[in-house]
Amino acid sequence: MSLDVAAIRADFPILSRQVNGRPLVYLDNGASAQKPRQVIEAVTRAYEAEYANVHRGLHFLSNLATDNYEKVRAIIARFLNAPREDEVIFTSGSTEAINLVSYGWAAPRLVAGDEIVLSVLEHHANIVPWHFLRERQGVVLKWVEPEPDGSLPPEKVLAAVGPRTRLIAITHMSNVTGTVVDVGAIARGTQVPVLVDGSQAAVHMPVDLAALGCDFYCITGHKLYGPSGSGAIWIRQDRQAEMRPFMGGGDMIRTVTRDAIDYADPPLRFEAGTPGIVNQIGLGAALEYLMAIGMENIAAHERLLRDHARDRLRALNWLQVQGDAPDKGAIFSLTMQGAHAHDISTILDKRGVAVRAGSHCAMPLMEFYGITASARASFGMYNTTDEVDALVEGLSFCRELFA
Ligand SMILES: Cc1ncc(COP(=O)(O)O)c(C=O)c1O
Repeated sequence: MSLDVAAIRADFPILSRQVNGRPLVYLDNGASAQKPRQVIEAVTRAYEAEYANVHRGLHFLSNLATDNYEKVRAIIARFLNAPREDEVIFTSGSTEAINLVSYGWAAPRLVAGDEIVLSVLEHHANIVPWHFLRERQGVVLKWVEPEPDGSLPPEKVLAAVGPRTRLIAITHMSNVTGTVVDVGAIARGTQVPVLVDGSQAAVHMPVDLAALGCDFYCITGHKLYGPSGSGAIWIRQDRQAEMRPFMGGGDMIRTVTRDAIDYADPPLRFEAGTPGIVNQIGLGAALEYLMAIGMENIAAHERLLRDHARDRLRALNWLQVQGDAPDKGAIFSLTMQGAHAHDISTILDKRGVAVRAGSHCAMPLMEFYGITASARASFGMYNTTDEVDALVEGLSFCRELFA
């Protein structure tokens, strides 16, 4: 079914605003997506009429807030087709999620000389927590490079696995090139635990955890049209059983005495302190919104955007698209001889076109491409082919200025 993009756009109040006297063309969705009215209203309702702290209270509002908050666990499980709801652990986003795995699962288990396989496509959130283990425990990071076109064949990742490999930490979709990695083939091809960074992929395509076969899968709410500070990681029950708590505090214990602690069962065991109650309620509303539209329909629309953008950008012989794998999302990292990415972004901004410029928290990938920065246009479900054309016109204007 094709998307009713006009109706979707009407749900996002910010999309009708002007920027620098021009209609906003928002192409920075890879960094963070805009929010539909349904999310804004859910957040407002939670604060205006249904707010209290969760779990500990016995009064009406606390029970209501707890119900609203805990329902989101089930919504996330449904969104990801996760086998069990209690395998979903709330986090403030993917960064906290991956640190939870690093501190809670990997740090107590890995010793000097053990290996973690990761790809050069990774975001720093899926690099730095593993560097901590390298620095502190002598864990070895084994890097797998993509092909020059940005694709990452699963066989290449599996070929890096050796007898000392304890974890594969891999993105499902690059935030720089949009490359989609066949993480299912990786997970099915090895006994080694696989952590998948789904921060980008879950926004743009259906995710079926029951079929993927990985061990850890994280999402981050603000890219999913939900509030910042929301997110989750799905951790299979047997891996949860191998973990020690990461943060300590309220809510994650059953009893505390002067001499001992008895931890709460997962998932609460891994959710110390007052959580981002309303953020997660907003995330629930965002995921309900996405599921009502249908992730297959969103993916189909974004394929049209990708193909249109690819055709138009490839036709510009003065522009380089960094990493243009056949299987990729609608994310384009662009460089232009003689124009810095920051200049491109500033000039596009004057025309109302919002793109991001820099290293996109992916310095090893920038190094792989021999660049320090790119201008990144990243599309979402509310973007249109007219907006692709506005980007191309803006780039052509840049080219005239710098030629
Ligand atoms: C692929 C990828 N992984 C991880 C992250 C980190 O997500 P967050 O900053 O929301 O924790 C991002 C955000 O840009 C990302 O694109």
